[in-house]
Amino acid sequence: MTYEQARTELEQYGQEHLLRFYGELSEAQQEALLAQIDATDFSILRYVKDPHQGLSFGKITPLGAMELPEIEARREEFTQAGLEAIRAGKVAAVLLAGGMGTRLGSSDPKCMYDIGITHPVYIMQRLIENLTEVTDLAGVPVPLFIMTSEKNNDKTVQFMKEHECFGYPADRIRYFIQEMAPAADPDGRVYLEARDRICTSPNGNGGWFQSMKKAGLLDVLHAEGIEWLNIFAVDNVLQRICDPCFVGATIQSGCAAGAKVVRKAFREEKVGAICLEDGRPSVVEYYDMTPELLAANNEKGEPAYNFGVIMNYLFRESELERIVDEILPVHVVEKKIDHIDQNGDPVHPEAPCGVKFEQLVVDMVRELSTCLPFEVVREKEFAPIKNPTGVDSVESARALCLKNGIVL
Ligand code: UTP
Repeated sequence: MTYEQARTELEQYGQEHLLRFYGELSEAQQEALLAQIDATDFSILRYVKDPHQGLSFGKITPLGAMELPEIEARREEFTQAGLEAIRAGKVAAVLLAGGMGTRLGSSDPKCMYDIGITHPVYIMQRLIENLTEVTDLAGVPVPLFIMTSEKNNDKTVQFMKEHECFGYPADRIRYFIQEMAPAADPDGRVYLEARDRICTSPNGNGGWFQSMKKAGLLDVLHAEGIEWLNIFAVDNVLQRICDPCFVGATIQSGCAAGAKVVRKAFREEKVGAICLEDGRPSVVEYYDMTPELLAANNEKGEPAYNFGVIMNYLFRESELERIVDEILPVHVVEKKIDHIDQNGDPVHPEAPCGVKFEQLVVDMVRELSTCLPFEVVREKEFAPIKNPTGVDSVESARALCLKNGIVL
C-alpha cells in the first residue's frame, strides 16, 4: 500500500491522524505502518456508533440444568463414559489465553501471574495441575491447544519452555494466535501505540475456532480423531479441565455441547444466565434481564434463570465446523488502552479511556443446536482472577484455593 492509498483509506474512516508522525519515520517504519494500515479492518469502527447492530432478542425461555443431585447419582456412570472418550483420544482441551488482562494490570500474560504466598504458584501452573489430575486418572495426556495473541504469544511460549510446561508433555501442546482489531478512543478515533504503529488489541474470545481453522489445526483435529473440545478461560484457577464426569454427561446427553454452570447466589446476581432464545441455547446477560425474567419461577418454585455460565464449555467438533463461518456480533468494550498522545508521549491510563472490539464465546452458544447446562459447585470450581483485589481477584481466588486444600 502506498502513502496515498493509505491516506485515502484512512480519510474514508476519519482516521488520517494515524499518519501524523509519518514524515519523521525511517523508511522501514513507514513501510511497516502502511502494511499495518493495509491489514486493518477499519470498517469495524462503525460499531462505536451502533453498538447493538440492530440486533434484537428472540423469545427467552428457561433451559433446565442437570443439577447436582442427578450428577451425584450418576457420577460413576458419567465418569467412566468420560474417561473412555478421553482414553480413546476423542477429547482435547483449548485454553483461551489471548486476552490482555488489563484489569489485573500486569504487563505479562495473565498465565504468568504468581498467586503463591509462600512459594511461586503461577496461574498456568494451577491450570496444568488441574488438567494433570485428569490425565493421570485416564493414563493418557490430552492434546492441549493454547490460544494466544500477537501481544502475548512469545512470552507465553517462552514461559512454558522455562518451566518445562509444568510437567505436561510438550509434544501434546500446540499454540495458535488469534486475530487483532484496532483500539480507539470513545469517539472511534483509533489510537497510535507508537509513532509507527496503530493500537490493536485481541478481537475477543469468540473467534477461537475460526483462529484454529486459520492456523490449519482442523487437519490436526481430524487426523487425531478429536471429537470434543473443552474450552476454558485462563483466569479460573480452580477450573476442572476435561472433567470426565462433565465429558461423559455431555456425550450421553446427545447434545452438541455442554456448559458448566453455577447456581446464582441470589436472583439479581450479575452473571449471564443460560436460557433458550427462540428455542436455541443462549445466555441472557444480567443487564438484559427484564423484571419479568428476574421474577420468573420454574415448576419447583425456584428462579427460572438460576444458572450462570463460567466459560467452561465442551463443544462437539462437528458442530463447531457447522457454525464456524457464522458472523458473530461485535461488542464494543470499554478498556484501559496504552497509547501515545498528540505529541507522541506515552499514556498509561489508570481507568478505561477507550474502546476495543470483541467477539464473545457467549454469542457462539447462540449458534448451537443444543446444549447441556451442567451444574458445578461454585466454591470448588470457580475462582476467576480479574482484578488485583476485591471481587474476582487474586485475593478471593487465593482464599478459595486455600479452602480447597491447595498449598500456596
Ligand atoms: P476477559 O473477558 O477477562 O478479558 O477474558 P481479558 O482481556 O483477559 O481481561 P480484561 O478485561 O482486559 O481485564 C476471559 C477469557 O477470554 C480470554 C482471556 O484470556 C480469558 O481467558 N480472551 C479474552 C482471549 O483469549 N482473547 C481475547 O481477545 C479476550
